[in-house]
Amino acid sequence: MFEMAITLKVLTLNCWGVFTPLACDYRNKRIMAIGDELAKGEYDIVMLQEIWTQADYVILSNKVASVFPHHHYFHSGMFGSGLCVFSKSPIIEIFTMRYSINGYAHKIHHGDWFGNKAVGLAKIEYKGLKINLYITHALAEYNIENDEYIAQRMVQAYELSQFVKHTGETSDINIVGGDFNMRAEELGYRVITTNGNLEDAWLKQKEAPVTNTGMTSETPRNSFTNPKKLKIQPHGERIDFLMFRSNGGFTMECEKCYLPLDKVPDQTYSYSDHEAVAAIFTIRKNITAMTKQLDIPSRNKNFEEAVPVLQKGIKKAQFDRNVYIAALILGLVAFFFLDCIPMPYGLGWVLSCVEYTLVLGVVFSIWMSVVMCPVEENACIAAQKDMLIILNSDKIK
Ligand SMILES: *[C@@H]1O[C@H](CO)[C@@H](O)[C@H](O)[C@H]1NC(C)=O
Repeated sequence: MFEMAITLKVLTLNCWGVFTPLACDYRNKRIMAIGDELAKGEYDIVMLQEIWTQADYVILSNKVASVFPHHHYFHSGMFGSGLCVFSKSPIIEIFTMRYSINGYAHKIHHGDWFGNKAVGLAKIEYKGLKINLYITHALAEYNIENDEYIAQRMVQAYELSQFVKHTGETSDINIVGGDFNMRAEELGYRVITTNGNLEDAWLKQKEAPVTNTGMTSETPRNSFTNPKKLKIQPHGERIDFLMFRSNGGFTMECEKCYLPLDKVPDQTYSYSDHEAVAAIFTIRKNITAMTKQLDIPSRNKNFEEAVPVLQKGIKKAQFDRNVYIAALILGLVAFFFLDCIPMPYGLGWVLSCVEYTLVLGVVFSIWMSVVMCPVEENACIAAQKDMLIILNSDKIK
């Protein structure tokens, strides 16, 4: 076991590796540049998100092979989770926990469903230290004023926090990183930090950060930022995080947390549409250090606020299911009426087109009412009941 302090340098970056060329600028060049940057060997651990193609993962792992002999891609859903981890020291164990709900399949432009958003756990051993790395990319918020995914995102925040809480006890330290798609002011963030018992590296770094400098998405310095978004949020938003916690016997401090990457060298564009977040941690063995206790009053206060959010999600899923059932019935009725309409000679194809469209609509409504809406409803019920049980058991104590 080590005597002196161990220094650990960690980086997380949402790489924006979307494979439709129209929606994603300079992808190949950016992936190459990310590989070149990582190959410098600056960091001990790297967590990437939105690596949506295996080709990009192979390019990256080849580029960094001499510094990161150990790496893993977390496969999930139809396209893969987009998550991967690179480590200087061996990966001992891996597990992927898929979030139970991930948006809707028919919202193809949102795309979350196809990747099956997840949290990946990689257990590594670094200089005698047992580290649990958690890497995640949560469901995005597409409309800040009217977030249709507010309950789904709450379910994911809760699932992430429980997963870290219940698997993070056997390691020496835990590091959680990724694109949470949640601002620090949001309830979901507070559920993660209080129930997951985690510290935000940005807030815990030794020198207090200058206000508004830690933004990671839609920032003024990023070449891909939509100018319209800057009018609403002139500094951008902080939604990518590195969080941490040490267990009993260890002291873990964040020396510095910073955004290390700017534009790709000699180019006018950034590495990604998000900023990378890096942190330098110091870990010491400390026999008097105890595992940090959960702040139960804060956690419970957040749960009490989350329960009605989930209730809204349950109601929304029930309402949507009823809408689809109504559409299904209407579709079937229309289908049989159409059959009785006499069409003038030569125009039968018009009727056929309408009928085919109806059949597609009916099939879609069956899929939504029988599968998708009940799955969404149950995921919200599950998270809500869990929280109520936890709140109740604290009352009994
Ligand atoms: C060891 O842990 C104790 C209790 O958390 C703390 O007060 C002390 O500062 C730590 N010592 C070092 C050297 O980090």
